[in-house]
Amino acid sequence: MFPIMLGGPVATPGPFGAGKTFTQQQIAKWGNAQIVVYVGCGERGNEMTEMVKLFPTLKDPRTGKPLMDRTCLIANTSNMPIAAREASIYTGVTIAEYYRDMGYDVVMMADSTSRWAESMREISARMEEMPSEEGYPAYLSSRIAAFYERSGVVRANSGEEGSVILIGTVSPAGGDFSEPVTQASLKNTQVFLALDEKLAAKRHYPSINWNTSYTLYEDMYEDLVASGSLGQEEVASLNGQTSESVHRDFIENRGIAKRLLSEEDELLELVKLVGVDGLDNHKRLILEIAKSIREDFLQQNGFDDIDTYCAFDKCEAMLNLILGLYQKVGELVESKGTDDDDLVAKIFDDKMRKSLSDMKYLKTSSEVNQLKKDLLARI
Ligand SMILES: Nc1ncnc2c1ncn2[C@@H]1O[C@H](COP(=O)(O)OP(=O)(O)O)[C@@H](O)[C@H]1O
Ligand SMILES: [Mg+2]
Repeated sequence: MFPIMLGGPVATPGPFGAGKTFTQQQIAKWGNAQIVVYVGCGERGNEMTEMVKLFPTLKDPRTGKPLMDRTCLIANTSNMPIAAREASIYTGVTIAEYYRDMGYDVVMMADSTSRWAESMREISARMEEMPSEEGYPAYLSSRIAAFYERSGVVRANSGEEGSVILIGTVSPAGGDFSEPVTQASLKNTQVFLALDEKLAAKRHYPSINWNTSYTLYEDMYEDLVASGSLGQEEVASLNGQTSESVHRDFIENRGIAKRLLSEEDELLELVKLVGVDGLDNHKRLILEIAKSIREDFLQQNGFDDIDTYCAFDKCEAMLNLILGLYQKVGELVESKGTDDDDLVAKIFDDKMRKSLSDMKYLKTSSEVNQLKKDLLARI
């Protein structure tokens, strides 16, 4: 839903336990960058130990070799001196640039930039500098800007073209996004994946809030698809037989899905007042479809062998199925919805729900397309 381009700066803020570390690891495993630089900055030592133990055992899903072969881990845990935090961030980004100059696509994760900011605050206080907002030094935001500035696509003197994506997590106390580190990160990044405590509590993972998150690459992505210059081979190598039309459909469906999700938000307010029974079939249908987008499409269990990764063509097929139902049932509601109040409830019975929730465990897009045919025939 929120595409990230090679070379883009990304911020993933979220309170403790929202899934920041997990989301970064998923991107490290499945994204199409060739080199991963992971900086554990000021987080708990056991998390870093876990990574150091886990990564060598993981297989790179694309090459079959150990993921560790293309990963560089920089450990800087909370019990290390605070001055080392800054060093770890700069070491990480310098290593990332080194590989970029060699023509690789690199992704660097900094987990968490909040700990780095805290160390800046502490050092600045000891140097008796004038504190600014929340005790952070006045240069906080320019330092964060100077860090994210180092992302990007570069043609090196060697003639090689490479890129660095910088993904920084931010852990604002109490999940308050108005604090200075989150705000400075927001200003300097192109993609903002806001992890939501409420979604995490409901076990909706990844807990990326679809209303507050955004990507500024939307237009660039659409332009690339429109001009037919999207890196076809890269996407295809992730076993999706991606063609331009899949991208075109996805762009259109993504827009419809986002609109339905925000309509759902408003409808749920209404439901609190009048109950579901007070809604007409058309509104009930929006609720059913939005629920399906959330639970059957957006929600992804990182611990499940199949659900942990979804190829792009399967992703589009799933959305296509859900919105195909929206269209077909919508037509039915249009013609007979006034006669039968329970029309939508009858269609979305337990059997239909079960088929929809099993969809994510199908392996390929053609299986999803077959399911779509079956479900539409059932209505
Ligand atoms: N995509 C996911 N699928 C399944 N579980 C997840 C997912 N993302 C997060 N979790 C669960 O949330 C827990 C906390 O995530 P973590 O990344 O450690 O949080 P944070 O770094 O924000 O404090 C993880 O241990 C995991 O059990
Ligand atoms: Mg973490």
